[in-house]
Amino acid sequence: MMRLQEIKIGFIGGGNMAAAMIQGLLKAGVAARQIVVSEPDDGRQQWLQTQYGVGVSGSNSVVVQSGAEVVILAVKPGKVSSVLQALQADWQTGQLLISIAAGVALAQLQALLPAGQPVVRVMPNTPALIGEGIAALYAAPSLSVAQRQTARALLEVSGEVVEIEDEGWMDGVTALSGSGPAYVYLIAEALSDGGVACGLPRPLADRLAIRTLIGSARLLDASGSHPGVLKNQVTSPGGTTIAGLIRLETAGVRGALIEAVQAAWQRSRTLSGKS
Ligand SMILES: NC(=O)c1ccc[n+]([C@@H]2O[C@H](COP(=O)([O-])OP(=O)(O)OC[C@H]3O[C@@H](n4cnc5c(N)ncnc54)[C@H](OP(=O)(O)O)[C@@H]3O)[C@@H](O)[C@H]2O)c1
Repeated sequence: MMRLQEIKIGFIGGGNMAAAMIQGLLKAGVAARQIVVSEPDDGRQQWLQTQYGVGVSGSNSVVVQSGAEVVILAVKPGKVSSVLQALQADWQTGQLLISIAAGVALAQLQALLPAGQPVVRVMPNTPALIGEGIAALYAAPSLSVAQRQTARALLEVSGEVVEIEDEGWMDGVTALSGSGPAYVYLIAEALSDGGVACGLPRPLADRLAIRTLIGSARLLDASGSHPGVLKNQVTSPGGTTIAGLIRLETAGVRGALIEAVQAAWQRSRTLSGKS
């Protein structure tokens, strides 16, 4: 595996996810001069340069031809086809493409690249911005172990990486961890509203809601226990928690969350042309 400190990394598209990943790379000790980003918007180019000190260009070809061992494709899914078509002649043998475009299948990417060009498909999420993301990685079995490790190392600066063996799971990943932060923000907002309804000042209610979500999630992760076990531990007979839980169950919160993920999965399948 190439060490991250030794490789040149290109980004095509300098939007939100690219910025999140760049931030993670810099924090992990990658030097700004190792990174080059292409981005059509002048103002955004300027911002990326000022904010991170990375190389910027208005040309995607410049990034691919920069000698970058790894190129991260971070444009919106609708742009992938035209962007890659225009770059056909620019790829160097062995240059690894990491696509984070939601819903764009590995076979579609391969069809837009020179034959045999190594490519990985990844679904990250926005907590990557603070190194707390989770990214699902899918690669063809033909990808070399070294390239797989390089992709993993690069993504791990933004959080946890899970490799999935079935590309069909990507829609489920998108629905759960890709869209998931929005569900959590909605829950945080609602919990805070609940505190305000009980007479708490908003700033206090916000802090209590946020820290409760963070602390509970960390405890769940660290304990390795089933969520139901931890729930039972804070639910004393005839107490306050069971009163609240009964309301959540009669309101169908559990079913609503299950169906939220399922609806997002369906939408992801529709957007990627599967149904
Ligand atoms: N945000 C998420 O939670 C999330 C999670 C997982 C995966 N993703 C995936 O990550 C990708 C990027 O999402 P994002 O949220 O970072 O979107 P974004 O902020 O809109 O970033 C896309 C960037 O690409 C630029 N761009 C547009 N056309 C281009 C071209 N022809 N060549 C080079 N750059 C071009 C855009 O510039 P202009 O603004 O000037 O057009 C923009 O800066 C998407 O494919 C998305 O599916 C996002």
